[in-house]
Amino acid sequence: MSRIATLEIEGKKYEFPIIEGTENEIAIDIKTLRGVTGGVTTIDPGYKNTGACESAITFLNGEEGILRYRGYSIEDLAEKADFLEVCYLLIFGELPSKEELDKFHADIKEQSHVDEDVKKIIDGFPKAAHPMGVLSSLTSALVAFNPTSVNVDSEEEMYNAIVRILGKFPVLTAWAYRKRAGLPLDYGDNSLGYVENILKMMFKKPTDEYVANPIVKDALDKLLILHADHEQNCSTSTVRIVGSSNAGLFVSISAGINALWGPLHGGANQAVIEMLEAIKEDGGDTKKFMAKAKDKSDPFRLMGFGHRVYKNFDPRAKIIKVAADELLAELGIDDPILEIAKGLEKEALEDQYFVDRKLYPNVDFYSGIIYRALGIPTEMFTPMFALGRLPGWIAQWREMRLRKEPIGRPRQVYIGETLRDFKSVEKR
Ligand code: ACO
Repeated sequence: MSRIATLEIEGKKYEFPIIEGTENEIAIDIKTLRGVTGGVTTIDPGYKNTGACESAITFLNGEEGILRYRGYSIEDLAEKADFLEVCYLLIFGELPSKEELDKFHADIKEQSHVDEDVKKIIDGFPKAAHPMGVLSSLTSALVAFNPTSVNVDSEEEMYNAIVRILGKFPVLTAWAYRKRAGLPLDYGDNSLGYVENILKMMFKKPTDEYVANPIVKDALDKLLILHADHEQNCSTSTVRIVGSSNAGLFVSISAGINALWGPLHGGANQAVIEMLEAIKEDGGDTKKFMAKAKDKSDPFRLMGFGHRVYKNFDPRAKIIKVAADELLAELGIDDPILEIAKGLEKEALEDQYFVDRKLYPNVDFYSGIIYRALGIPTEMFTPMFALGRLPGWIAQWREMRLRKEPIGRPRQVYIGETLRDFKSVEKR
């Protein structure tokens, strides 16, 4: 029996179908709302109650702290899969066979070079430029060196665009870092695995051989998997909405990078470390910063705490906290920032303000500590997040194209001036 939601507006009743997802989430389908009501719209700033699409990629239950990619739990994937397998899974829907994975990797490697002229663009940036700005510009610039549009009816064209960006994006990320570090803009080594190659591209010194530490490689693999997708977050929604205008994959990804940059989203990992460092510099008084975070007249927020969707705990934060502990122990690093982070977490979890508002540490509370231990500088944290989120953006873009979703174009409730007469400048 089909289920119906009834809406009454000024005495008139309207019926709308209720749809149900595979995890029993129900939603009111209001596609016909404006048509049947003669222009009534909904208002939902921040889209807190709005489903922008139906999606089969990631399932997230914020109340129970569940995150699954294509039905596989994040815990299972972080422990057993590698990042490239997860890329394939997210984008194409199934875990790859050995042959499928090998072909996928070979096709990506085939595209792991960037036009040499891109180096001239990088040369034009000041050395102190934030790598997120550099990365979004370079990703857009790739359009100039590659086919600009993708025929959505051609699986082959979509596939080619996907392996192209998966091949080139790590090179751009490494170059954004190397420019800042004053290192030559080098290529990687296609005999290596995808993640190992990323490490080599970033850290290889011109004078030395680079051999990735397996502990470091495993930690990065895990971090990238944890960041790989998170359904309709700010940057992913941006990618889908830009792509919905039929803009190409590269510019849609570039827009996603910019959305990710903000400190309320992917920029939080950098902001967390800066906050922890500020607390350390200030003498380590976590209580003072807790009070600031709770003071409504102070704009300060406890970075790395709270999440739009998780109102119980962030399952990624649980995995990452253990990984951070293990990595620091295995590398023999004693980071005072970790102690401050743990102290802050304990206090916040026991504090009524945070308890009442269901504010828990999110994935970025601990990711920066791992990046630091890996030798990745603070400004590169958000680019590393982008590297991890890339397959999610691609998967969501591909799904949007395959479902032939209409152009994204929200409505509004106009609250400005009504019609008024124009006055010439002398009369104003
Ligand atoms: N510190 C102090 N108070 C907070 C925090 C925080 N980190 N987060 C939320 N609150 C408070 C708000 O002031 C608000 O209080 P009020 O009800 O008294 O007004 C209440 O909790 C609800 O907060 P909202 O901003 O309405 O929650 P929303 O879902 O819009 O925001 C967000 C979620 C942006 C993540 C927010 O919690 C935040 O700013 N956190 C810090 C930044 C951060 O860590 N971002 C990373 C997110 S994870 C990611 O992108 C991978």
